[in-house]
Amino acid sequence: MVVFKVSRIETAPIDGQKPGTSGLRKKVTVFKQPNYLHNFVQSTFNALTADKVKGATLVVSGDGRYYSKDAVQIIIKMAAANGVRRVWVGQNGLLSTPAVSAVIRERVAADGSKATGGFILTASHNPGGPHEDFGIKYNMENGGPAPESITDKIYENTKTIKEYFIAEDLPDVDISVIGVTSFGGHEGPFDVDVFDATTDYVKLMKSIFDFESIQKLLASPKFSFCFDALHGVAGVYAKRIFVDELGADENQLLNCVPKEDFGGGHPDPNLTYAKELVARMGLSKTESPNEPPEFGAAADGDADRNMVLGKRFFVTPSDSVAIIAANAVQSIPYFASGLKGVARSMPTSAALDVVANALNLKFFEVPTGWKFFGNLMDAGLCSICGEESFGTGSDHIREKDGIWAVLAWLSILAFKNKDNLSGEKLVTVEDIVREHWSQYGRHYYTRYDYENVDAGGAKEQMANLIKLQSSLPDINKIVKEIRSDVSDVATADEFEYKDPVDGSISKHQGIRYMFADGSRLVFRLSGTGSEGATIRVYIEQYEKDPSKSGRDSQEALAPLVEVALKLSKMEEFTGRSAPTVIT
Ligand code: G6P
Ligand code: ZN
Repeated sequence: MVVFKVSRIETAPIDGQKPGTSGLRKKVTVFKQPNYLHNFVQSTFNALTADKVKGATLVVSGDGRYYSKDAVQIIIKMAAANGVRRVWVGQNGLLSTPAVSAVIRERVAADGSKATGGFILTASHNPGGPHEDFGIKYNMENGGPAPESITDKIYENTKTIKEYFIAEDLPDVDISVIGVTSFGGHEGPFDVDVFDATTDYVKLMKSIFDFESIQKLLASPKFSFCFDALHGVAGVYAKRIFVDELGADENQLLNCVPKEDFGGGHPDPNLTYAKELVARMGLSKTESPNEPPEFGAAADGDADRNMVLGKRFFVTPSDSVAIIAANAVQSIPYFASGLKGVARSMPTSAALDVVANALNLKFFEVPTGWKFFGNLMDAGLCSICGEESFGTGSDHIREKDGIWAVLAWLSILAFKNKDNLSGEKLVTVEDIVREHWSQYGRHYYTRYDYENVDAGGAKEQMANLIKLQSSLPDINKIVKEIRSDVSDVATADEFEYKDPVDGSISKHQGIRYMFADGSRLVFRLSGTGSEGATIRVYIEQYEKDPSKSGRDSQEALAPLVEVALKLSKMEEFTGRSAPTVIT
């Protein structure tokens, strides 16, 4: 057995290591600076209580993006030197973000120990490669992202750090091979356990969904399926679950080989970036010669986001969570005894509110960021939640979960078609959505993103929108001058949230303009970009009348879009005449 020495290395603080909404995300070139990753990892160890480090079990893995392999080895050596008992690594350093959450919550070592936390190496949906983004975030014992109290401590530590500890002479562990490698240290044994990335996650999925009924759906000659991993880590799970377990054909998987640079693409599952899938589903301007599949889905780099599509049909994420919530109890065994409650982020449309109201469910509106759902789930208040930003999930883990969302939709389709698999025509994704609209009304919804705009201009624009809110009559005068056919602004504010569990207050969570007819405009700055500022405009309009729920969404929303852009003086503040992405 190799016995390693612990080296104490002197270092100095490096600016800008404040973790954002989802950890520290920077260009690879920034991460590669001497001591950059080391400082952050040591600052994290120092922010945790001693029992979460000494003798502890930690998970280290991620979406496999460029620099992950180096980072895994560095973190292993630092864990060893800091007295960690064992590190769990998914084969090839791969684990999706939801799988890390599942591993932390579910996996048990031979001696009965469980993980007390984990480092997830990902920059989520941001591109990867030598000149693109890398990221690292720490998740806690409940499988969810570290709360602000911890990330603040990490940041404070990065500003005063003087030394870190590393087992420099520890040989690199071959993380492509499953198995345990044991080392001896001054504080006792240290193991690196490389395990199959899918086992724990697949076991969890099988305990939630009825795989047999989904298998029957996929086997029906009337059904066809397609999944695009955008070269992210979801590909590993897609092969194992959709092909090996559920019997899909390998050629129904697109871009399911994880790549360090995501094949040069932007691994974000939306109508702009999931080009190949969008074309295959018949949603591109140029219609493909082949008949599109009945169902299509994509996930982002670390597989926590998802997009669900029907044949020539886009399901908005806001509708998706509402439809899953409305159908969960009948279609998904995990929810058979009922839902504890449901939740959405503030900018997500109110489609879920209507379902909660009809089904008499507890309902919560939280700020953007998955961590807010985690608190509700830990307190047993929420079963299903979702965000307009293509995140959907449940209390089975403490992260959003792309593959889970796909399985949820397949479960609903399987349930709706259970007596119909050999019938004339299957109930389709589009049928389910249209039926939902006619029952609950439709929330027309769109989001305009202005990426990488000047940060100063964006801040000024937000300040201006807040200033405007001081007088409703003034706002309404401006609105009516822009479009006389929109309803009156009834209230306007900045969203503020009081966590019902711990009482903490989050301020400045987005600027809202709420109209008398239930329409809504929301403006906020993204918290996840790595360059400049990203402005998001969320536009929503409620239509209760079933005879009017079938319109084209951009057309239905055109008056409100015009109001949003003129009210916010978008072009004046950003110099942009069009958004970067429309979803
Ligand atoms: C990440 C978080 C989500 C959040 C999303 C959008 O994916 O996990 O909870 O909704 O970012 O954030 P942004 O600040 O860019 O709108
Ligand atoms: Zn992600």
